[in-house]
Amino acid sequence: MKDKNTFYITTPIYYPSDKLHIGHTYCTVATDAMARYKRLQGYEVMFLTGTDEHGQKIEDKAREAGLAPKAFVDNIVEGPRGVLDLWKLMNISNDRFIRTTDDYHMESVQKIFKQLYEQGDIYKGKYVGKYCKPCESFWTETQLVDGKCPDCGREVVDAEEEAYFFKLSKYADRIQHLLEDTDFLEPRSRVNEMVNNFIKPGLEDLCVSRTSFSWGVPVDFDPGHVVYVWIDALSNYINALGYDNEKYHDFDQFWPADVHFVGKEIVRFHSIIWPAILMALDLPLPKKVYGHGWLLLDGGKMSKSKGNVVDPYLLAERYGVDALRYFLLREFPFGSDGNFSNEALITRINTDLANDLGNLVSRTVSMVGKYFPGGKLPAAQTADPLDDELAALGAGLREKYEAQMEKYAFQNALMEVFAVVGRANKYIDENKPWVLAKDLEANGPRLARVMYNLLESIRISAVLLTPFMPQTCEKIFAQIGADASLQTWESVGTWGRLPADAQVSRGDNLFPRIDVKKELEELEKASEAAKQAAQDAKEPEYITIDDFAKVKFLTCKVLECDAVKKSKKLLRFTLDCGEGQTRQILSGIHEYYEPEDLVGKTLVACVNLAPRKMMGLESNGMLISAVKEIDGKEQLHLLMLDDKVPAGFELC
Ligand code: MSP
Repeated sequence: MKDKNTFYITTPIYYPSDKLHIGHTYCTVATDAMARYKRLQGYEVMFLTGTDEHGQKIEDKAREAGLAPKAFVDNIVEGPRGVLDLWKLMNISNDRFIRTTDDYHMESVQKIFKQLYEQGDIYKGKYVGKYCKPCESFWTETQLVDGKCPDCGREVVDAEEEAYFFKLSKYADRIQHLLEDTDFLEPRSRVNEMVNNFIKPGLEDLCVSRTSFSWGVPVDFDPGHVVYVWIDALSNYINALGYDNEKYHDFDQFWPADVHFVGKEIVRFHSIIWPAILMALDLPLPKKVYGHGWLLLDGGKMSKSKGNVVDPYLLAERYGVDALRYFLLREFPFGSDGNFSNEALITRINTDLANDLGNLVSRTVSMVGKYFPGGKLPAAQTADPLDDELAALGAGLREKYEAQMEKYAFQNALMEVFAVVGRANKYIDENKPWVLAKDLEANGPRLARVMYNLLESIRISAVLLTPFMPQTCEKIFAQIGADASLQTWESVGTWGRLPADAQVSRGDNLFPRIDVKKELEELEKASEAAKQAAQDAKEPEYITIDDFAKVKFLTCKVLECDAVKKSKKLLRFTLDCGEGQTRQILSGIHEYYEPEDLVGKTLVACVNLAPRKMMGLESNGMLISAVKEIDGKEQLHLLMLDDKVPAGFELC
């Protein structure tokens, strides 16, 4: 039985077909903030993320790269600046990371598939329909939009093959009820989309196996079939807890998931197919699926194939991880799309982080240090009605913040915190500590109270900002002298938990102000340079071993060599290539060699080039040379082998 005190949250597991971009980072940062918030509240949290590594797209990409699929995904997941590196950089606090190529996951997928087959929820039939390769999605004619994939708008192809089907239609009524009559799927706007586009037109059974490629979980009772990538991927959410495997043992403790965060284009899989699978397995359903919006660039979805992705490494390294995390969750309402721009990012950092929060902390801490010996407030303090508004706001912040966080309204939760930060800045201006400080003897206790109220506002704000900016908040706690007991959820439920004789210690500025114009120019340059570097470091265009094997090189002895009449360049070679008859090859190398010097030499020839006529003579192949341009002049050396090498040996 799931314990009330546990919280299970997931991100979609990412396709490691390319490096991740800021759009992927967005969802993971949001999930991380939610997980940290729940931990702060005292929940035992399971935060799962991972990678979805099977399917035709990965198989194709790996082939293009000349790598085995596993080596290809290993590089993107574990390699430099890969998925794991990015999550580490972004300070992502996931408790578990699943790869769908993990053995335990694959075994669980096979067991799930078999169970559904044996109980009749999966049956064998023939698939005739349309398939979108990039999305790995099957569609019926009626689902297409203008004959194209309704998700990505790209061409679909006809597909027909023997396949297994999942009886999705059997669950249509239950799914419709789940969507319409419960708050399983949010935001609410996504419900209508699902019901109108997919359920009302009639939910058809889903093709759940493929035979046209092999990079997937094999159907163990029917060789040649691999499990449809979405069945494989969705089941990660239970397999990572130990469902039907021995790797983990916390399924009972954490399932059902409290929330699956997913991008809007994969809501269909999570709100229709996933609950149907769970119904078939007779398992409890997740409490919620939340379909967040996309980060757009110039109004369009970022995608590697469109070449309009924003690199999270570049931004995090330039502005700091916390500034980027804050921006992502403050700038865009989580449920809707938002347009990313460098200018919005820099402006947000300047106004909220450098001006409001950074200034509040640095002014307060430096005033306490300046006005009170050793930066320690005296316990004798004088309150004033001028304090009431700030104290009331601070005292009520946790409740308002919680109400927003429970709705995944990160933007609003942050606005609540910054309302207190803003009020505290105004409180400085109202109380003018520098005027009070002119007569410390008379005003010391009042000044101490003003400073105390500022420190307490900062403390409460920082505790609630921790899920968003963990590293920054640690620095703030060190500056205002708040130990671990003053960083808890419980400690921000009331005003005044900071001891009266708090002691500060000055630290560096949290967020230096950025010169917007200069920065935008530099950013443009940096992004150009990064593009160029990526271009330069671009994987060489690999050929496969099959491509290489197409070219046939043989060792050959020069039997005769003479200059072709009326040609300055051409030499005519009669060669013994060990083929039982001689071969004639023409080569434009007279400026480098005299014909008589080449007779008897052992060379290398490509012998399966299509024949070609030069100066009326047929050339059947090409002699291989080493060529380089030095100081604007081409230099050439025929590839000559040791004379002991016989003719007719193949190079491989
Ligand atoms: N592998 C599937 C998920 C399987 S979950 C059982 C997948 N992977 S993905 O790498 O293509 O996308 C992962 C997530 O990143 C999706 O939720 C997707 O919406 C999100 N994003 C990708 N680009 C995005 C933006 N530009 N903006 C916001 N989120 C976006 O789908």
